[in-house]
Amino acid sequence: MVKRYSFGDVFQTDSIPVIPEAQTGAMPYMDVCESEMSLTYQMDPEDIVYGLGENVRGINKRGWIYESKCSDESKHLEDRRSLYAAHNFIVVDGRETFGLFIDYPGILTFDVGYTELSTLRITASDWNLDVYVIEGESAVEIIRTFRKLIGRSYIAPLWAFGNGQSRWGYVNAQDVRDVVRNHRENGIPLDMVYLDIDYMERFKDFTVNKERFPDFAEFVQEMKDQHIRLVPIIDAAVKEEKGYSVYDEGIEKGYFCTGADGKPFVGAVWPGRSLFTDMLNKEARDWFGDQYKVLLDQGIEGFWNDMNEPSIFYAEDRLADALASIADMRDGDQNLDLDAFTKFKNLVLDLSANPEDYKKFYHNVNGKRIRHDQVHNLYGYNMTRAAGEAFERLAPDKRILMFSRASCIGMHRYGGIWQGDNKSYWGHLLMNLKMMASLNMCGFLYTGADLGGFGSDTTEDLVMRWYALGIFTPLMRNHSEMGTRRQEVYRFTDLEGFKNIIGLRYKLLPYLYSEYMKAVLDDDLMFRPLAFDHPGDKRARTIEDQLYLGKELMIAPVYEQNARGRYVYLPERMKMLRFTRDGGMEETVLEKGDHYVEVPLSDVVFFLREGRLIPLSGGGQCVDDVDFENLAVVSFGENAEYEYYHDDGLSKDYENPVNRRVIRA
Ligand code: NOJ
Repeated sequence: MVKRYSFGDVFQTDSIPVIPEAQTGAMPYMDVCESEMSLTYQMDPEDIVYGLGENVRGINKRGWIYESKCSDESKHLEDRRSLYAAHNFIVVDGRETFGLFIDYPGILTFDVGYTELSTLRITASDWNLDVYVIEGESAVEIIRTFRKLIGRSYIAPLWAFGNGQSRWGYVNAQDVRDVVRNHRENGIPLDMVYLDIDYMERFKDFTVNKERFPDFAEFVQEMKDQHIRLVPIIDAAVKEEKGYSVYDEGIEKGYFCTGADGKPFVGAVWPGRSLFTDMLNKEARDWFGDQYKVLLDQGIEGFWNDMNEPSIFYAEDRLADALASIADMRDGDQNLDLDAFTKFKNLVLDLSANPEDYKKFYHNVNGKRIRHDQVHNLYGYNMTRAAGEAFERLAPDKRILMFSRASCIGMHRYGGIWQGDNKSYWGHLLMNLKMMASLNMCGFLYTGADLGGFGSDTTEDLVMRWYALGIFTPLMRNHSEMGTRRQEVYRFTDLEGFKNIIGLRYKLLPYLYSEYMKAVLDDDLMFRPLAFDHPGDKRARTIEDQLYLGKELMIAPVYEQNARGRYVYLPERMKMLRFTRDGGMEETVLEKGDHYVEVPLSDVVFFLREGRLIPLSGGGQCVDDVDFENLAVVSFGENAEYEYYHDDGLSKDYENPVNRRVIRA
């Protein structure tokens, strides 16, 4: 049951496709305080608060304060309040169980017992918002109701479930060929190579550098002949350069965000001075979306949208002021004491993503000027929507891969997300796992993190353990930052180990794709906290380093360096499946309770529930190699059955009944 409560003059975010009638009575559960622009709830000590999608910390969000403020945040540390997303959905599960979605485009704070241990307080920046209260028998039921309300999640093509390799640093066709050759020669499956900003001509969106990729369309085909898809990045900001058609046309048509003076707002990103398409303006959005055609026409079938919080390195006028202040300092005695030095340092540090700069530009929404900061969290969403809506026009029968960095609920209909600039930290492997559950609750199913870690130097054991988790996530991609240690798996010593782990992904593909598709089509969760299936089990309610994957499996990755294994809690009897480096599989039945499980570095261990089975393919070097029909099964118990979903992976005939069939042991 969903109830909408509306306050003030609500901006139409389109997060919810069909908006229910507003209620008139008092809102249940929450104390509404208009003067403080807040909603408050007193939590019971046993209550769990789920949700908030992409954020640091636990699956249970209690004990911290989170801000919905899409930020280019490269430090995913415990003290961060926001990352790239605004996922304003929570479920309080305990004494009372209910869900809340705040449909609001501005900055919002979720204080989940930070200021006062047992108080949940949600505070908005102004009082123009819709609050949805969602009721149901259980957290899962509430989430499913919410997911239905926000509309079906984005569906990726089947090939996008293959292994992807990326690095900010592959600059030309030869670099890409080398990556592919090294995978193929070493028998490491691969389906995608990602192109980061260096494929462009001086960081100009929708261009390709001709020296580095002399005949791009031909190269795209050369890769396809080897079953590799190239996936280029698209940035939010458009380079200011006369003669660059995207800039010229955007200026001519008035499609860029403007400053208070009505002139296009200039901020800088990779190409230096840049402009920001008014993604909230339908005409401008359609126009930006149409630009993807230039790459689609060259055979590209997938993209990742970046820097769309939007990230701004500096706003033109702030840079001018900073340089003038620094010049004054230079002309002074240059003896900077603590205060003077701090001021000097901050002149530069405060240039990037300065909240004041988000107040300096405007959108034109149906003829009304809206200041950006009031709708900040909708920008990345609408950039990805621009692409998604364009794909519907340009390639209506085909699935195009699309995932974004910034997001907001609503965007889940147009693309997935990757989890941004994590680092090669063991803690970030665990965070990857936790986020899978929270993101699924908010509708983001095609997701995953940069395997091995994006920033910082990685280590072979971290990469290997991370793959042992990454093989389960729909988006499986190794990506790293320029200047860090190279981390393509073929650069390490234990190639057999990596081959075994990545090879297992391809054996699991029929199951993983089937679970993903069913979760999308049934508004369900692919990854779930254990507590959802065992609400009465106190231990299960606290477990944050194991998840259910579909109805059949439980995963429990190792996330500590030099660990030889880990403790696993089984809320019921399960069969442990161990995939060893020689390609073998061992099956051991374990009773409900705690178990120490040894997991050598190159093994993958997971758990099958009683009365269930999973299908396994024979594997392959790419998704095209995988036989999705002739399947082996691993089962636990008598009469186990599995509802298997499969389709052609490319078209949109999702609902065809032939896509679902029952497999028996
Ligand atoms: C930031 C993105 O998060 C990262 O993945 C990418 O490599 C860099 N931008 C460069 O494009």
